Amino acid sequence: MATKKKHISENKKKKDSKVKVALLGFGTVGSSVARILATSKFPSIELTHIFNRNVERKRTSEAARTVASSVVWTDSIDVILRSDVDIVVELMGGLNPVEGWIRKALTAGKSVVTANKQLIAYRGPGLVKLAAQHKVHLVHGAAVAGGVPVIPGMLQGLCGDQVTKLSGIVNGTCNYILSRMEAGADYATVLADAQQLGYAESDPSADVDGFDARAKLCILSRIAMHAELDPDAVATQTISTVEAIDFTYAKELNCTIRQVSRAELDGKLVHARVAPMLVPLASPMAWSHGTQNMVVVSGRFGGDVVFSGHGAGGEPTAVAVVSDLLAVAQGCNTVELPIKKARGDR
Ligand code: HSE
Repeated sequence: MATKKKHISENKKKKDSKVKVALLGFGTVGSSVARILATSKFPSIELTHIFNRNVERKRTSEAARTVASSVVWTDSIDVILRSDVDIVVELMGGLNPVEGWIRKALTAGKSVVTANKQLIAYRGPGLVKLAAQHKVHLVHGAAVAGGVPVIPGMLQGLCGDQVTKLSGIVNGTCNYILSRMEAGADYATVLADAQQLGYAESDPSADVDGFDARAKLCILSRIAMHAELDPDAVATQTISTVEAIDFTYAKELNCTIRQVSRAELDGKLVHARVAPMLVPLASPMAWSHGTQNMVVVSGRFGGDVVFSGHGAGGEPTAVAVVSDLLAVAQGCNTVELPIKKARGDR
């Protein structure tokens, strides 16, 4: 059932006026979003505000060179909330204080584009409801699998199926670590590299202990199976205990090791799990190296559909954010189906 929401460009009074955008967060992804907007020069979009803590440090950074001089840099969220921006792009992450800011933005009639998986996993349904009440959009295509359009693909392309199973690799940092360990590198070195390259979360235990992947699995289960899972109830196992010798044993079985996230519908129960698992060397998951993500969606009628590409990193994730931004600016309507509470098993 498509819902009618505010078509931002129709609300613009002047024919030539642009949709104004504020960026919350000028880190790895935020600076890539700003660079794409500056270089691609989408005619209907104007970046007008950037919010960041310690804003001076960001404003004078190398990454800020492509940002237009007209952009207002601020470390006051109230400046953003009181401004006339149409869309707030949230790239700060975490629940607090971001949830409160997003609630205020939606209530003030601003649409929100976010890549915040924890927020969407824990608070998504309430925020979507709030957005609908205020006739604005809340879009989160970048929250799962970075630059791989698995969320828009499932929302638009697979909503006609009955999805019974999801499985795959949804954390780029773990895939980067495990695929390099498979080639002989040691855990601590590759984790440090992943942090340096901007793939890992600010607290990398969110990656290696599986909390990032389980949030993404809950979001995918909601969209694909209309099942609302409690992230804290999803069985989750760390990859930090995987050792070099495990890859030797795995190879003897013609397998390797990947962090796999899996959810399967079983009547009213959803079996959901995130863990390092053996995957056959001949399977597509074993071919995923570096930050590559891969999600296999199994439908009752359509069979298996595979989504694959870069799941972490500034530019791939920024592509997903900018794509959401363009869709919202053009008044996208997403398909919405009722969500059922589902029990997860531990
Ligand atoms: N830390 C996350 C990952 C970033 O490695 O997949 C993208 O969500």
